[in-house]
Amino acid sequence: MKNIQISPSILSADFSQLGSEIKRLEEGGADMIHVDVMDGHFVPNLTIGPPVIKALRNQSSLKFDVHLMISPVHKYIDAYANAGADIITIHPEATENLENSIKKIKELKKKVGVSLNPGTKIDVITNFLEQIDLILIMSVNPGFGGQKFMPEVLTKIKDLKKIQKDKNLSFDIEIDGGINFDNCKIAIEAGANILVSGTTVFKSNNGDIKKNINLLKSK
Ligand code: DX5
Ligand code: ZN
Repeated sequence: MKNIQISPSILSADFSQLGSEIKRLEEGGADMIHVDVMDGHFVPNLTIGPPVIKALRNQSSLKFDVHLMISPVHKYIDAYANAGADIITIHPEATENLENSIKKIKELKKKVGVSLNPGTKIDVITNFLEQIDLILIMSVNPGFGGQKFMPEVLTKIKDLKKIQKDKNLSFDIEIDGGINFDNCKIAIEAGANILVSGTTVFKSNNGDIKKNINLLKSK
């Protein structure tokens, strides 16, 4: 089994102090930094774009795990790569041609992530699994932090684990949305090896990031 990694979402950070929040995550033992990019169109919320990511890039040596919830995504891939994203995750519904977008991310020498909404089936990506480095399983409908975890998506993770074994593939499985100290165990048991967490990491235990990251890993 792969080591469990925690990718805290800065959506729950103090936006007036993003630089120091990222340093706090690094000191607290985060494995990467999850950056939620929203466009007010693909999802009903707006967050941050390439200039902010670029400004934050030199605040930490951790990988930037950039989750693009924007449509059409293809023409913006370059900008996020240049801003300093290490993993670029896109939603199949947000691009006209998933294969081309995957190719583009690879050409830019970034890790390819593809995200499946709770209602999106694995079939959409089965032809591309060999090219994908990370599959992000949404356990809430994307758009906002602090939503309730949807346990029904765990079946998809179990199915992916089976496909992974049958085809001898090694993509990461990341889960995103409503992760807390109670459900992290079932997510890991299902096969997720990267947990995204905004609310739990930043707000639990009076914002004791180190404690929260350790607790998520140790369950
Ligand atoms: C939802 C985002 C998530 C979310 C995680 O659209 O992709 O990354 O902010 O936050 P919590 O852990 O609060 O659900
Ligand atoms: Zn996310």
